Amino acid sequence: MKGIILAGGAGTRLYPATLGICKQLLPVYDKPMIYYPLSVLMLAGIDDIMIISTPEHLPQFETILGDGSAFGISLKFAPQPRPEGLAQAFLIAEDFIGYDPVALCLGDNIFFGGGLSGVLTEAAAKASGATVFAYHVDDPERYGVVAFDGDGRPVDIVEKPTRPPSSWAVTGLYFYDNRVIDIARAVRPSARGELEITDVNRAYLEAGALSVQRLARGHAWFDAGTHESLLEAAEFVHTIQRRQGLQIACLEEIAFHRGFIGLDHLRDRQRKLAKTGYGLHLAEVIREAENVPGFQE
Ligand code: G1P
Repeated sequence: MKGIILAGGAGTRLYPATLGICKQLLPVYDKPMIYYPLSVLMLAGIDDIMIISTPEHLPQFETILGDGSAFGISLKFAPQPRPEGLAQAFLIAEDFIGYDPVALCLGDNIFFGGGLSGVLTEAAAKASGATVFAYHVDDPERYGVVAFDGDGRPVDIVEKPTRPPSSWAVTGLYFYDNRVIDIARAVRPSARGELEITDVNRAYLEAGALSVQRLARGHAWFDAGTHESLLEAAEFVHTIQRRQGLQIACLEEIAFHRGFIGLDHLRDRQRKLAKTGYGLHLAEVIREAENVPGFQE
């Protein structure tokens, strides 16, 4: 399966913070925002990922992430010259996707929760159709919203409705089979001039091929697109990391546990980051690996 992170847009809702830097590179507490969606795709087992951003910002991502080898993955980069909608990602990435299924994660979406990696692996393993995730929010009008029938089946999906049919927002993480390229090609620009991801999802729904997974209580989902939500996300990451002594979106840790990198590579990365909480956590991951019974160098 291929992965795409869409990190475009001008970030106008975060001005003046984003006047000189791309939104998805702002720190969310202790790491660049893009680490979080990247960690989600890696947790789903995806190691071949394309990052799409504006021509102006793309070089910044390449500088920070390189070709992905630091994390045992392959990263490619492609420009979206104009903000013409999320669904355009599949047209930009058409050659990269080839005949594979593909997952899309929005560059400002942050997920955390027990059992998340199981949920993601399951969605990635589905042979056909689409999987999206719904999250209960108190401001559904800001998002794509899914309506359910009495048996909990999805019956409609609408973008930023003035009168939301439910409180279930569709998060910015989507798993599709290869049909998504043709479906995206058939989508026409909406009133705001964008190829809407919600229209792609509606096409799957109408074909009876959309699975909507509701994220359970206790899962956290943020879209860090406003000052308020960016701060909330940072506070959340800080609180969990400090209280539980773990790291959210620690890419080297995920890469190691997924088998994308080995212990020597992990030690090498740890040395580079040693002076930070992130580096101390990597040292802990290394110690744990060395203490597994039967461990041999
Ligand atoms: C986009 C999608 C929307 C989805 C949201 C999740 O909205 O259009 O359906 O609920 O991402 O973050 P946007 O962030 O472009 O306003």
